[in-house]
Amino acid sequence: MDKPKVFIARKILDENKEYLEKYCDLETWDSDLEITREELLDRLSDKEGLLTVGTKIDEELLNRAPKLKIVSNISVGYNNFDLEAMKKRGVIGTHTPNVLDDTVADLIFGLIISSARRIPELDRYVKNGEWKPQEDDDLFGVNVHHRTLGIIGMGRIGEAVAKRGKLGFDMDVIYYNRNRKLETENNLGVRYCEFDELLKTSDFIVLMTPLTKETRELIGYREFDLMKKSSIFINASRGQTINEKALIEALENKKILGAGLDVFKIEPVEKDNPLLKMNNVITLPHIGSAVEETRRDMFEVAVRNLVKGVQGKIPPNVVPELK
Ligand code: DGY
Repeated sequence: MDKPKVFIARKILDENKEYLEKYCDLETWDSDLEITREELLDRLSDKEGLLTVGTKIDEELLNRAPKLKIVSNISVGYNNFDLEAMKKRGVIGTHTPNVLDDTVADLIFGLIISSARRIPELDRYVKNGEWKPQEDDDLFGVNVHHRTLGIIGMGRIGEAVAKRGKLGFDMDVIYYNRNRKLETENNLGVRYCEFDELLKTSDFIVLMTPLTKETRELIGYREFDLMKKSSIFINASRGQTINEKALIEALENKKILGAGLDVFKIEPVEKDNPLLKMNNVITLPHIGSAVEETRRDMFEVAVRNLVKGVQGKIPPNVVPELK
């Protein structure tokens, strides 16, 4: 029997190829450059499976891929899926939850500490030869320990951040989520808090919600206005969960103390984005899960999802909305 044809739209590891070749007829994109949309659509005309990161899966793509059964994302986020269009066409969508939670939480904590203690800014200061012999209160930062950490979006990654804050830094951890997480509250001693209250009282606000219709620009002018002038805002979810102009305005007008950002409205971030000029903003190139062993795990989960999907079985990590 012919093996199902699949398209691998980005470089994968040799071990993933070997595994996939056992079950599938593989076509791969091996360039470092991202495949163009038109090229991708052409390649999908006879494919039953697609392995990708971030490709927009919409009606246009689905119309050009009449045999497609599954799109396997190599990411936990799946805001690239048009869930309605996929549901209508019966195309399965999968993602890679769990394996990256601690890795992303580590990065978020890195952003919290780096912003609070101004680590990248002061690293530049030392390297630029600006360090003066006398003690300088210009170098002061703010404490992380025993401060209030507000987490918006208490999913698995949110919980891993809460754990670090609570157990590692004795923080008072509050959270806002669509549903209350009583087990997490009991296990970790974190408190549920209404949205506005969280914004008004947190010293560090971590936005960790998936990007959906409801969370698009969840944080805008009104929300930044509610935050404390001394607060630090961290975003490692998706750039579109905030109104970036409102963040820039809040920073320019000192409505908040600083920000740590792993994600932007447009990625790679545009060279003239005002955030790049701000010393009190840490800017990272969307590296939440960028650790070799974590990526290896994500690839493995994603290729297994793909194989199950093209075999007509239900993969373990179908996104909740398509279950
Ligand atoms: C994820 O897995 O969603 C990370 O943000 C990488 O895209």
